[in-house]
Amino acid sequence: MSTFLRVRRSAPLRGTCGVPGDKSISHRALLFGALTDGVVEASGLGRGGDNLSTASALRALGVEVEIAGSDARVHGVGFAGLRASAAPLDCGNSGTTIRLLAGLLAGRPFETELCGDASLTRRPMRRVAEPLRKMGATIEGRSEPTRPGDIFPPLRIRGGALTGIRYDLPVASAQLKTALILAGLQARGPTVLREPARSRDHTERMLRFLGAPISVDAGGAITVEPDGWDGRLRAARIAIPGDLSSATFLIVAALTVPGSEITVENVGLNPTRAGALDVLRAMGADLTIDVTGDAMGEPVGRVRASASRLHGTRVDGDLALRAIDEIPALAVAAALADGKTVFADLAELRIKESDRIAALARELGRAGAHVDERPDGFVVTGLGDRPPAGGTVVPEHDHRIAMAGAILGLTSAEDTIVPTADILTSFPTFAETLAGLGAAVESS
Ligand code: S3P
Repeated sequence: MSTFLRVRRSAPLRGTCGVPGDKSISHRALLFGALTDGVVEASGLGRGGDNLSTASALRALGVEVEIAGSDARVHGVGFAGLRASAAPLDCGNSGTTIRLLAGLLAGRPFETELCGDASLTRRPMRRVAEPLRKMGATIEGRSEPTRPGDIFPPLRIRGGALTGIRYDLPVASAQLKTALILAGLQARGPTVLREPARSRDHTERMLRFLGAPISVDAGGAITVEPDGWDGRLRAARIAIPGDLSSATFLIVAALTVPGSEITVENVGLNPTRAGALDVLRAMGADLTIDVTGDAMGEPVGRVRASASRLHGTRVDGDLALRAIDEIPALAVAAALADGKTVFADLAELRIKESDRIAALARELGRAGAHVDERPDGFVVTGLGDRPPAGGTVVPEHDHRIAMAGAILGLTSAEDTIVPTADILTSFPTFAETLAGLGAAVESS
């Protein structure tokens, strides 16, 4: 297995490619599949480390999960069929795995320990622990003297009889929302959830597709009504679309390497997730987006991107939320654009796999762009016609910082070196996909 990627200034990128299955939807296919009354066959599964963490945690809870290439067969056991795991469940680098499992295990009558890698161990868990405790679960975590009031992994969860709640989420978070929906499905009485803004809604779409008693009103309030439900989701085939978060790195590469034109096929275009495409268009990107189908209520299609002269824009509010995972790729676009791009309302970026605001300020700064760091975002003054400098990227266990550094390297005057280990989290075929489009990337 290669450990470094050497990225050189690239010739134009050309061609058509796909990307691995959507990471968010793959987690849900595995986890919700385990709660069905039969065998769920999922195609297009993301095979990055995060999704594999969810699969192995489910196996430790007594669920048979078979993975062959990008196909998975999950033998559903229903909520009641989950068994206590003797060993702690290792969630690796995956915030989605630990938070979704916390909600699921809050309703199971046994104790579980959830742990993860150095990056996950620093991520805040009070947001899930507090409402789950209100519903009746016992949750303990590690405290940190420098961040009083919060808790961090490892988490110990003793689940049991839960009561539904009405809860206003303090942050728009699909991980938190999903944890509370999974707890609500196991509770007595309804659970009603409101978010300050609408986060990605893959859970609502897939759970409705699998027959869960969940509804969303016009104002976005989510109601889970478990009373009278038999507690089992209906097994179905699940076709997972390609990951737009992965695709965005390729799209930004094509927009910024002169003379490029690429098409990414079979990619998820859920509007609660697709803010990055709106941002790029506002920057002057030449994009053609065609919705070609629908998978479980998720729009799917193709995106064609041609090299474009980009200019600065403003990314904030709802747009920032809909592009939350794509900010590292968009920051590269901003660094190579003319003028200033303002990224705001993004305090959540400080508690992702790394402090992405600090990491992006460092990486773009190393490449020669001026970055003004703010508590909830940053302002990038683009390089315009000046090529970025090369160097060595420091991803800090963050796959998206690693890939952002690599994409920046495609237009750099000197070589860029990227440690590859972290990329495996979400896009294990990143280097070969780029090379297939003609990029000068070499593994060593
Ligand atoms: C995710 C939700 C988002 C996102 C993460 C995946 C999910 O996190 O950033 O990469 O699959 O539910 P938050 O829920 O913390 O906003």
